[in-house]
Amino acid sequence: MIKVKDIAYVRFSAPDLDEMERFTQDFGLVTVLRDDDHLYSRGTDPDAYVHVVERGEPGFAGVAFEAQSAEDLKAVAQLEGASEVEKIEAPGGGIRVRLVDPNGNQVEVVHGREAPSPLPVRKPSPLNRGSDRQRFGELQRLEAGPAQVKRIGHCVVRVSDFNESADWYASRFGFLRSDEVYLGDESNTVTAFMRCDLGETHVDHHTFLCVGLGEPGFDHAAFEVEDFDSIMLGHDQLKNGGYEHHAGIGRHVLGSQIFDYWKDPWGHVLEHFSDGDLLNASAPIGRFDPATALGTQWGSFAAG
Ligand SMILES: [Fe+2]
Repeated sequence: MIKVKDIAYVRFSAPDLDEMERFTQDFGLVTVLRDDDHLYSRGTDPDAYVHVVERGEPGFAGVAFEAQSAEDLKAVAQLEGASEVEKIEAPGGGIRVRLVDPNGNQVEVVHGREAPSPLPVRKPSPLNRGSDRQRFGELQRLEAGPAQVKRIGHCVVRVSDFNESADWYASRFGFLRSDEVYLGDESNTVTAFMRCDLGETHVDHHTFLCVGLGEPGFDHAAFEVEDFDSIMLGHDQLKNGGYEHHAGIGRHVLGSQIFDYWKDPWGHVLEHFSDGDLLNASAPIGRFDPATALGTQWGSFAAG
């Protein structure tokens, strides 16, 4: 077993890359490479890309995780069903190993992609909290436009057998369980919010989830933005762009993020989030029923 350090990117296929690029840019991603058959997009953080689209029938085409070392990639290549270590033919280069999960999703483990320089981020707004004034004589004026995506945060897939899939991912990539969700009988765990195991280092509350409910397939991928204002600016941008809203705006219970979910032109759900919980390897596992897990601290999961 290796311990991956983060999610790297998600892949989709779509028949019209012009239309997809209009969406990715309105969503707040920045195009890195665009040709007849590929669209690579990044955030402002120094990652080569976080969202990949290939020309083809619309669909989810897989998830990639970042390995901590080239040695770890060699170990993954020894696993049953794994490819050899291959060069990545994409911006930033690097190496990867490909696998197929129990539901037929492609999973890549990557390492050594060249890190580009970070992109400038719109200055976060100093906030005048009721008990902590920060802005004196300075007007709050935000620039309309897309929410600038910083990085990819997590991916969620619906699976036919939760235990089989969760064990498959955890036993290969070292994921820890942050919170589990049970349905009816307490022993009937149907999903687990899984995070990376980087020891004392604090990481996102969840990087990957398999959900053992509903039709198996892609559920959503989530991208971090700077702050609440960014989420709201991004909401307006996507609304004005005529895209379909999926859920939000609200604040999750599990993971605590402020969230806003939108659909790309082919119905794949992408989430903007900000202010998520960070845990290290010593955090205990929480157990929740679905009402709590899908509840919000404020706002709602409804579209609108
Ligand atoms: Fe999410």
